[in-house]
This record gives sequence, structure tokens and C-alpha cells, in this order.
Amino acid sequence: MSQNKKDDVTGVETTGHEWDGIEELNNPLPRWWLWTFYATIAWGVVYTILFPAWPLVNSATAGVLNWSTRGQVAERIAAVDEARAGIEARLVETDLAAIPEDEELHSYAVNAGAAVFRTHCSQCHGSGAQGAKGYPNLLDDAWLWGGARDEIAYTVRHGIRNEDDPDARYSQMPAFGDILADEEIATLVDHVQGMAQGGDPAAGPGGELYQANCAACHGETGTGMREVGAPNLTDAIWLYGGDTETLTETITNARFGVMPAWGLRLDEADVRAVATYVHQLGGGEETAPE
Ligand code: HEC
Ligand code: HEC
Repeated sequence: MSQNKKDDVTGVETTGHEWDGIEELNNPLPRWWLWTFYATIAWGVVYTILFPAWPLVNSATAGVLNWSTRGQVAERIAAVDEARAGIEARLVETDLAAIPEDEELHSYAVNAGAAVFRTHCSQCHGSGAQGAKGYPNLLDDAWLWGGARDEIAYTVRHGIRNEDDPDARYSQMPAFGDILADEEIATLVDHVQGMAQGGDPAAGPGGELYQANCAACHGETGTGMREVGAPNLTDAIWLYGGDTETLTETITNARFGVMPAWGLRLDEADVRAVATYVHQLGGGEETAPE
């Protein structure tokens, strides 16, 4: 570069670049800048060796430390699982009815159960467990199949009328559209509406039809039968509805409410946790009534 000329004012060699008479001086880079620059290059090389860096066709180089954000998440999950292992084992071993005696275990079960409920149950039973048409309210003390802890856990574990679990709770109301005449069904609709308001289940022509066709499952007094999940027809609580149109539809075509078997998808600790959670929502029974 000795052929480059020197700047008259500073005496520094120029690079030879010139714009409108302004020339670029060829000053050396500041030393601190240069060393920082080399350090970043060295850092870059070391980083790409240690950590995931170079993109390949379907993935990227893994780096010798084998670090990944996914691995980090997995590690944290494993740590949480380990911290929970003790109490989850206790939850699985303890008799369900005895869980409330152990305050720590009960509060763990209720909290874990609430999380399970939000994830797996709320889409059918509602986020507050208030239920919807065809999906029972789990806050009240009206139970189709049973409200003691063991019974709730059984319902959750095996489900209802599903085809996946041979131990699922099962029953089937006949479609009376094939059995009775339309006028008889209309009479029964009136009769059932009367029963819900305290009417005598055996009175009149409706009572006769009721006792002959319905009492086997809904009971002579109409209070339902848990062995077959038949609802109580004498309260004002309806699973499907108490208006004339809905009752006509229910009695003509029957219903077939299906709930999945959660024992096939959740582990036993989660089943017990969510059963404990549901039980303490308000309607839980200590033992099944006689
Ligand atoms: C796909 C919808 C669906 C989901 C999800 C679901 N259920 Fe249900 N569940 C039902 C239906 C439908 C019934 C009523 C079946 C019947 O008519 O007997 C029911 C009934 C119940 C009962 C019986 C209530 C009684 O009166 O005896 C309990 C307890 C229950 N569910 C708890 C749960 C829990 C806990 C979960 C979450 C782990 C859950 N359900 C998830 C649909 C569902
Ligand atoms: C074999 C047993 C069985 C017989 C017989 C039977 N039911 Fe049912 N009934 C059930 C079951 C089980 C349910 C709940 C169905 C479900 O949730 O899928 C039900 C549901 C109902 C409901 C819905 C209640 C609600 O809360 O919405 C009405 C109403 C009803 N039955 C009326 C009758 C009448 C009237 C008769 C006689 C003509 C009758 N049932 C005969 C088993 C029976």
C-alpha cells in the first residue's frame, strides 16, 4: 500500500478512496475494538460446538452439551413428578373415605382434582360442574348412580354406557314410541309433570301406565333407582328437561347418556383426586342411602 499517498494535514497514509476531494485515512483499528472482535469470533465458534446451532435439512446440530429447551422442560417435569411421588402414592393407597382425615392429602387431592376437572370434565359438566342438558349437575345432592366417594370414583373410572370398558355403568330405557300409543305417551307426560310437583305416582290412568311401564326402573314412588341410573322423577331436577316437548321426546325415543371411562386415560391417583374434588363440591354423600 506504499503507493498510497499521505494526507497532508495528518501525515497518515490514505486508503486511496476519494469522494469529492475527501479522502479516507488508513488509521489502524483501536486495539480494544479489535480484541473484542476476535473474542466474539472465538465465542461464536465455541457456542456452535456446545449448543444446537447449524441448521440441517430436518433438524440442527445438537451441540456437545446436548442441551435443548425441550430437555429443560422434561427435566422440570421430572422434578415436579418426583416431588409429588410420595403424596400420589399415599393418595392411591388410602381408603377414599379416610382421605378427609388427612388434611394435607385431602387438600392435595382437591387441588389436583380441580385441575383434572378443568382439563377433562368441564367440557361436558361445565366449568363450575353445574351441568347442562344431558350432563348432570355435580354440585347438588341428586345422584343418578351414587354420590359416595367410592361410587363417584367407580363412575369416573369405568364411565357410563361406553363401549370401551366392560365394567362401565350400564342400563337402557326402552323407547316407548314402539310400545305405547301416542295418547298413552301424552298421558304419561302429564303424569310425570304432576309427579314432579308432588302428585301421586299411582293415581289415575297415568298412574296405571306408570306403574306398569316405568316403576321397574324409576320406582313405585318415582324416586328413581341407582342400580340402573334411573333419575328421580319426583323432584324438580331434570337431566333432559321437564317441559312437554322434551318429556315427549324422552319417553318416545328414550335417552342414552354416554360418559367415557377415565380409568383408561387417567392414572389411579388422578381418578381418586377428581372423585374427591367432585365429592366435596356440595352434594357428596358419606355412605349410600338405604
Ligand atoms: C363426553 C362428556 C363427558 C365427560 C368429558 C365427562 N362426563 Fe361425566 N357424565 C357424562 C354424562 C352424559 C353423564 C350422565 C350419564 C347418564 O345419563 O347416566 C355423566 C355422569 C357423571 C357422573 C354421575 C353423576 C351421578 O349423578 O351419578 C359423575 C360423578 C361424573 N359424570 C363425573 C365426571 C368426571 C369427574 C369427569 C372428568 C374426569 C367427567 N364426568 C367427564 C358425560 C361426560
Ligand atoms: C329399563 C329401565 C327404565 C324404564 C323401564 C323406564 N326408564 Fe325412564 N329412564 C331410565 C334411565 C336409565 C334414564 C336415564 C337415561 C340417560 O340418562 O341416558 C331414564 C330417564 C328418564 C327421564 C328423563 C328424566 C330427566 O331428568 O330428564 C324420564 C322423564 C323418564 N325416564 C321417564 C320414564 C317413563 C315415563 C317411563 C315409563 C313409560 C320410563 N321412564 C321407563 C330407565 C328407565
